[in-house]
Amino acid sequence: MKAIILVGGEGLRLRPLTCNVPKPMVPVVNKPFLEHMIDNLKRHHIDQIILAICYLPDRIQHHFGDGSDFGVSLTYAVEQSPLGTGGAVKNAERFLEDTFVVLNGDIFSDFDLSDMVEFHRDHKGKATISLTPVEDPTAYGVVEIDAQSRVKRFIEKPSWETVTTNLINAGVYVLEPEVLDLIPGGVHCMLERRLFPDLVEQSVPFFGYRSNAYWIDIGVPEDYLKLHHDILMGKAVARFPGKSMADDIWVEEGCKMHPSAKLMGPVVIGRGCTIEQGVRISGPAVLGAGCTVGRGTAIDEAILWQNVKLGKDAAVRSSVVGNNSVIGDNTWVVDGSIISDDIAIGSSNKLEHGIRIWPGNTIKDNAISF
Ligand code: GTP
Repeated sequence: MKAIILVGGEGLRLRPLTCNVPKPMVPVVNKPFLEHMIDNLKRHHIDQIILAICYLPDRIQHHFGDGSDFGVSLTYAVEQSPLGTGGAVKNAERFLEDTFVVLNGDIFSDFDLSDMVEFHRDHKGKATISLTPVEDPTAYGVVEIDAQSRVKRFIEKPSWETVTTNLINAGVYVLEPEVLDLIPGGVHCMLERRLFPDLVEQSVPFFGYRSNAYWIDIGVPEDYLKLHHDILMGKAVARFPGKSMADDIWVEEGCKMHPSAKLMGPVVIGRGCTIEQGVRISGPAVLGAGCTVGRGTAIDEAILWQNVKLGKDAAVRSSVVGNNSVIGDNTWVVDGSIISDDIAIGSSNKLEHGIRIWPGNTIKDNAISF
């Protein structure tokens, strides 16, 4: 069976982390998010994958190539301009001759894809949509099903007054090729707004597959941080690089660690990092390859991408720092701050309250004071 992963979106809600990197390539515990999705597909013996790409396509193609380094065979369906989730699937029609799976490229889930395919076949579905329960369905596409699991209604982002179920579209579908006849070719079209309502209206056999397995959409920075938390705390299952050195501490080769540094797991440290005297790292925390953490600095529940340089007596807490950024001495980056790539922050600044700094910016010493 083939799978198509939709990875062409701009990831605007995850900005500034997605200014230089497409959302599927943002690192999750030191490997691109899309590698985790491919791992999950392989677990269900799906190794023929089509990537529907559009935004920053070279970054994805250059990393994954033909897929052989990742144990899969990859084909690319390229859009010159975004065709939407439906248009992207239609654009890959020539590669899809049999029952196939579609996945949004920003969801991480442990759910049993093989069981979902079996459900689709047992129900003789032409389309099956995965459903997951959430506490607040108003930010999602809500799907009503009947007692036979047949989809009755599809409501995008309902208001609280109109909410009738907490089951939302979990972004994984099993489809038969003939439903592609309902999607117009070469124009922008969304599965959620066009194809799915059409399937219901035309009484095509369209079913909802309900799962309570772990599920998260990394569309916004809070959920990107939450996924790290959940993987490192063992709530979500994922493989990541690093050798286990002690309970809940994983370190890749080439790291230099001062004996006085204290690591309280779960902590993952990438290749070639330098951790200086008196540093304290409290997990869940991840340091990408080539990071340097200066004397006396504290890291708490934070994610550093590659080649980040933290000065002395600095603090990074519940925040993300992107590639090649430099944080000065005595500077705090706390409470959901998102510092993207190639940023230089001078000494004695305090960045907090979910502040987001775009790539390439510089903040002088003492510019944002305590
Ligand atoms: P936002 O800009 O923050 O809404 O993110 P997004 O557009 O990247 O993601 P969204 O949640 O809207 O879309 C769900 C999935 O579909 C993501 O994995 C996107 O990459 C993908 N997607 C959205 N639009 C397109 C498109 O026009 N073409 C392709 N190939 N994929 C798309």
